[in-house]
Amino acid sequence: MSQSSSLTQKPAENNSAEERALELVAQMTLVEKIGQMSQFNGGSDDLRQLAREGRVGSVLNEVNVEEINELQRIAMQESRLGIPLLIGRDVIHGFKTIFPIPLGQAASWDPALVERAAAIAAVEAASSGINWTFAPMIDISRDPRWGRIAESLGEDPHLCSVLGAAMVRGFQGGAPNADKLDNQGAIAACAKHFAGYGAVESGLDYNTTNIPENELRNVYLPPFKAALDEGVATFMSSFSDLNGVPCSGNEFLMKQVLRQEWGFDGFVVSDWDAIKELTVHGFTADDGHAVQEAIDAGIDMEMASTLYSEHLPALLEAGTLEEQQIDTMVCNILKLKFKLGLFDDPYTDPGHFPHPVNAQHLQAAKEAALRSCVLLKNDHNTLPLSTEKIRSLAVIGPLADDGYEQLGTWVFDGESHHSQTCLQAIHALAGEELQVRWAQGMETSRCRKNDSFDDAVALAAESDVAVMFLGEESILSGEAHCRAEIDLPGNQEKLIEAIAATGKPIVLVVMAGRPLTLQNILDKVDAVLYAWHPGTMGGPAIADLLFGIESPSGKLPVSFPRMVGQIPIYYSRKNSGRPPSHDAITHIDEIDGKAPQTSLGMSAFHLDAGFTPLYPFGYGLSYTRFEYRDIATSARRIALGDTIEISATLQNTGDYSADEVVQLYVRDLVGNVTRPVRELKGFQKVRLEPGQSRIISFTLHTDELAFYNRKMQRVTEPGMFHVWIGGNSDAQLWGEFQLIELPDNTG
Ligand code: NOJ
Repeated sequence: MSQSSSLTQKPAENNSAEERALELVAQMTLVEKIGQMSQFNGGSDDLRQLAREGRVGSVLNEVNVEEINELQRIAMQESRLGIPLLIGRDVIHGFKTIFPIPLGQAASWDPALVERAAAIAAVEAASSGINWTFAPMIDISRDPRWGRIAESLGEDPHLCSVLGAAMVRGFQGGAPNADKLDNQGAIAACAKHFAGYGAVESGLDYNTTNIPENELRNVYLPPFKAALDEGVATFMSSFSDLNGVPCSGNEFLMKQVLRQEWGFDGFVVSDWDAIKELTVHGFTADDGHAVQEAIDAGIDMEMASTLYSEHLPALLEAGTLEEQQIDTMVCNILKLKFKLGLFDDPYTDPGHFPHPVNAQHLQAAKEAALRSCVLLKNDHNTLPLSTEKIRSLAVIGPLADDGYEQLGTWVFDGESHHSQTCLQAIHALAGEELQVRWAQGMETSRCRKNDSFDDAVALAAESDVAVMFLGEESILSGEAHCRAEIDLPGNQEKLIEAIAATGKPIVLVVMAGRPLTLQNILDKVDAVLYAWHPGTMGGPAIADLLFGIESPSGKLPVSFPRMVGQIPIYYSRKNSGRPPSHDAITHIDEIDGKAPQTSLGMSAFHLDAGFTPLYPFGYGLSYTRFEYRDIATSARRIALGDTIEISATLQNTGDYSADEVVQLYVRDLVGNVTRPVRELKGFQKVRLEPGQSRIISFTLHTDELAFYNRKMQRVTEPGMFHVWIGGNSDAQLWGEFQLIELPDNTG
């Protein structure tokens, strides 16, 4: 019979997690070691037996607290060595209280808000026995066709690094070095998907990625390094094939970069079945070969497939792998279990489950949704709506009153009955002063059948203003939910046209998991508020914005293309030898609708789209106006190792008190490898009252100007730099400074 061996896990209290893990590894059989490296999906009857035999180290997707406790009890008391289990779950943007999708949270440009959302998600998840989430997802995403852009923090390495690190802090209880993760309500985080997954060709999930090493290091890896510096406990290997070597067998990534260069000492889990899929990729000949490559690369834990248990013994026997490799991996995993305090107490009090979706959590979710919405258009100050000026409101569209669809992708545990919809919230906020009526217009957002718009049109005709809730239902984004066209799906454009024909002002609220191509409908609506999938409290947040209780302050974390053919379009592009200019755009306007007669300027633009996005990265309007002036640098010249202050005056020249996200961009004019035309280097959220002005200052160290050169060395090169401060990536207020190698004595 199995026996409890709790004594063996109680070395002196002050022994480090590593020492305790090593001691334990020394007592383990090969079967037990492989068990620790195996993660199984919950819900199977075999799990209890596997736990008893020490053949499982982690379980994912088990959320029944009693069952989790029973599995932990068996693992602790009935297995030979009494090793607790890691219980993993995709807690992506909330657990019971659902926050905006990560791309929406990124639009807040607010690390404190993102951290708090993750902390609340962690507390709620921990109350059901979960001690590990597969988040944050920090894949740089520049292709809105990719369904997983919804889970990402957008296109920019700096923004993604800052917000990804904030999520890690939130999940892991704010422990900066993650030496200890057993704070109440903290769960281990997982930086995923290492690496380059966001670059899948044509935005097609699971597709190939080809990323030159230089771009990988300058663009795709920085958010992972930032997560590591924040103490992220685990990494997940990507499904994707990176430059011919699938990530789950990629020694360069997992060993050279992650372990050797960065010194990561946590553990790496594969993505679901990703080790088995090495053979499907055509990288390995069979399952045994796949295990060999995954172990050689350093994938410590296998998710879902069971190849480690099936093939590791034979590979060790044959001598193509060494037991020392396995010991190191098991040690990596056990260290986390010690840090989480699981050996002391892996149990969850079922009396505390489910964690109540309480008022504080809901308030935080509302705040997050409010800060995530981006005002893209607001002609004639259509917004905010005033109950003094209008008497009736037509609420139109399939997403106005659907508590499920507003939650977005990757919601396993949130329940739509907690949601407060926009229709409910508008009624609650303005229902006494306004006549508010709803017409669904279409059955679902993607409906193409002959919807009759009659009710919606009649309602709009009888009302002073129409507010349309359109976009994408949840299922249109997320894993394996990519789209080749990213316009408003189904008959939505027709619905907009029908309502526009009434001549009534139209406010369009878009809920979606990605940037949509809105060009076709923009001139038919007066205002556009982009709400992403705003989560449980989307309704009250949006209602507050519509009625001006708060001003929108969100800024785009990703560029919005005019049309699909522009993708990928992102602000930090390279200049090329034939950079496009606004003069060229004039030609485009001239030829609009006609076949071009001659070549137009010989520069990098599309005849039918120009070269600018519909809305640039960092863009977002407010109900007030912000004016930027007087950019200044603290020095004309600085030396390597110095810092420089870059500042500008921001004034609220409008009538509303509001937040503005002030952004700092830099261009390194000449580089050993060509540098982007602009790179975000800093941002601050500032609240100003009407008329108020403030000098906003950024401190930049020359290390922050470093990049990987042709030899893959991280260097800061002397030379000229341009800087811009403004409210989006197209800011025009600029200055410059020179960076020299030696201290400058010339003053
Ligand atoms: C596959 C997804 O790619 C990954 O992000 C997720 O964490 C795992 N499945 C587990 O559900």
